[in-house]
Amino acid sequence: MKTWAGKNSGYRTHMTWTMLAAVALTTSAGVAEDARVASVKVIMGGIHGPAMKAISDLLKDTGPGDDGAWGQIATHAALLNESGHVLMQNNRCPDKVWADAAAALRKSTTDLYTATTKKDLNAAREAQKAMGASCGACHAQHKKAAAPAPPAETKAEAPPAAPAAPAAEAKEARLAGIKDIMAGINGPQCKALGNALKDAGPTEEGWDSVVMHAALLNEAGHILMQDKRCPDKVWKDACTALREGAAKFAEAAKTKNLEEARSGFQSVTGACGACHKAHKKPAT
Ligand code: HEC
Ligand code: HEC
Repeated sequence: MKTWAGKNSGYRTHMTWTMLAAVALTTSAGVAEDARVASVKVIMGGIHGPAMKAISDLLKDTGPGDDGAWGQIATHAALLNESGHVLMQNNRCPDKVWADAAAALRKSTTDLYTATTKKDLNAAREAQKAMGASCGACHAQHKKAAAPAPPAETKAEAPPAAPAAPAAEAKEARLAGIKDIMAGINGPQCKALGNALKDAGPTEEGWDSVVMHAALLNEAGHILMQDKRCPDKVWKDACTALREGAAKFAEAAKTKNLEEARSGFQSVTGACGACHKAHKKPAT
């Protein structure tokens, strides 16, 4: 069972990384500029949906039963906070409604995270409500209901709304520690890819979810380079390999090319190993 002490030590590790990264700032690598594979749909289906459901389940009834459960809520809150940043990057933000909803998501996830550190169930539920409102505010404007396509002749009359203002990236501090990103994205997404490649490879429908897992690993290769998370060249090169391997995998999955997918997966797991060898302390 994951203990609260475990969570705290992860948080301390994060603090240490943050401080190390700050020291190394002048030599540390910049943000990755290569294309990102994860669509908004992938981020929603792969991170938002499951994280929100897990939070709701954990806050039900009498609330989290133990420290481990509070720690899980904190990890989900941290990942959704990261998402509130990611949704403002890569030209994903089209307008002010989007920007405001993403800001509300960052704020409410911060409140939830704070509530977990105090194990304050009422505050946690308040924050959860505010999170739900932020999802709803963006969806009302930007998530199309599954509806039939409009008749062709109306198409030309509806130019896309111009962005209200150039979408600035959110500058405030992020909650997600490396451990949260690993436990919430890298670990589960990589495992799902490994399972999908077993034996004869993915089924017809299986290939779709494989694209999602690979796209999320590509996104992880970007966020691990942001927010001063990168301390050195080993880290940077591993992130590049992770992004490239995951992108290759996602591309191969589109044409259901098992051989190429396997080769992409090899690069991905090579990247995990290279970074862990230098930066992941053995379990004590
Ligand atoms: C800033 C905008 C924004 C915010 C905030 C947002 N979403 Fe979304 N969400 C979208 C858009 C856009 C889509 C439609 C994506 C598509 O189908 O291309 C979507 C789709 C979804 C889907 C369907 C995914 C699929 O596979 O079709 C789920 C589930 C979802 N969102 C969950 C959430 C939850 C839970 C939250 C709050 C924690 C949230 N979203 C917050 C923009 C947002
Ligand atoms: C750029 C560096 C880097 C890359 C790339 C990387 N990791 Fe990690 N990973 C770390 C660090 C650092 C830790 C230790 C985090 C801690 O305990 O604070 C870690 C820890 C983990 C953990 C343990 C999480 C926990 O709950 O304690 C898992 C699982 C994991 N990584 C999976 C993966 C997988 C799978 C990949 C490849 C898809 C990967 N990582 C790629 C740096 C990286």
